[in-house]
Amino acid sequence: MNNKALRVGIIGAGMAGQAHAFGFRNAMMVRGSEPVDLELVCIADPNLQLAESVARRFGFQQATADIDELINSDVDIISVALPNFLHAQVLPKVLASGKHLFAEKPIGRTPQEATSLAQLAQGSDAVTGVGFSFRRLPGLAAVAAAVSEGLIGTAHTVRAWYNADYAANLDGALTWRYSQEESGGGALLDIGAHALDAVEFVAGHISEVHNAMLNTVIKQRPLAAAGAVGHGGAVTGQLGEVTNDDVALLTLGLENGVLGHVQLSRIAQGVPNSLGVELFGDAGSITFDSIRGGEFQIFKADADGVYNGPRTVYTGPSHPYFNDVAAMPGAGVGTGYAEAFVAEIQEFVRCVRDAEPMSTDFETAARMMNVVGAAFESHQRKESVAVKGLVAHS
Ligand SMILES: NC(=O)c1ccc[n+]([C@@H]2O[C@H](COP(=O)([O-])OP(=O)(O)OC[C@H]3O[C@@H](n4cnc5c(N)ncnc54)[C@H](O)[C@@H]3O)[C@@H](O)[C@H]2O)c1
Repeated sequence: MNNKALRVGIIGAGMAGQAHAFGFRNAMMVRGSEPVDLELVCIADPNLQLAESVARRFGFQQATADIDELINSDVDIISVALPNFLHAQVLPKVLASGKHLFAEKPIGRTPQEATSLAQLAQGSDAVTGVGFSFRRLPGLAAVAAAVSEGLIGTAHTVRAWYNADYAANLDGALTWRYSQEESGGGALLDIGAHALDAVEFVAGHISEVHNAMLNTVIKQRPLAAAGAVGHGGAVTGQLGEVTNDDVALLTLGLENGVLGHVQLSRIAQGVPNSLGVELFGDAGSITFDSIRGGEFQIFKADADGVYNGPRTVYTGPSHPYFNDVAAMPGAGVGTGYAEAFVAEIQEFVRCVRDAEPMSTDFETAARMMNVVGAAFESHQRKESVAVKGLVAHS
């Protein structure tokens, strides 16, 4: 184990980069085990004004507009939160520099980009991690643990969803997110990455997309003005074409025989942000919704038949992640999406410190991207498509 403070840099100061900065800033508050010691060094983003304000806000020592300057500096860890079309350009440079690398989901835009990044990661000594942040919500992590402990018996059906309304406003800026070329996918990839990862996390590996239907409902949006980040941002007077999906519906087959159904929407009026999973087994069922990310519902068929029914479990110190990130060590005090970023950064930093692989690594992300690739193919060919194999271990 290495106890020296790890020097941290972040590339990308937009919505996700700021969440990473929040995660690194708070990662040292870990309660449940050895604290992680970090030195917050630099934020890099071509938008220097933004990089400087984010560095100031989260207590990083410096900011730069030059991404390569950070990659070639003497930091130990780099996290990358850039638009998807830059992943295949920037992530290989970080790996080549020998720094430990935490990257936002997805990695790249296509199965080919993700697979080649995963192969590069396998050939490197660096610890790599990917930000499947919902896994760190104590409620979802507890559901995965309950299923693997057999509490609902043998699972046969999973339903997952991610509904969000960030694109429901017709006047929302046409950023890189709405370009198939720049993003690699609309709802299917942007939020579907999390929902598909949640299916893999709780129910098992997805082996087949039986059917996928995608639709672009809002076909034009006002062009983004320079400097637009996240889901907001100023717009120009001109309209441009949306070239990826607003909604997607998928039916899936899993390696273990479970059947799945996934519904994704970025235009879900009235539902700001909800990722959920519901899993049925031969001895019970279990449900989670990120809107109440610190709890889940479980039904066990072997309980008293007269007064039995689904019951809510409020997560606490005995559930995954809770103890390290909750402000107080008491069940029910609650944790939210902010704490998920703290927990994922803590996990990554511990893996770096202990020279161990992270549970969500580049291979996890490449597998998810293969499911997305199969979904696109199923949508185009209107038939079942097998998910391509995992990245071969060298
Ligand atoms: N885990 C999550 O919940 C989550 C949430 C949002 C985004 N993400 C992921 O994080 C990554 C970044 O998304 P975001 O929402 O932070 O994006 P964003 O648009 O908010 O920010 C992107 C940043 O990249 C910078 N940038 C550098 N070069 C650029 C270029 N050539 N064109 C455009 N911007 C450039 C921008 O200045 C900006 O600061 C994506 O891969 C996305 O999928 C993950």
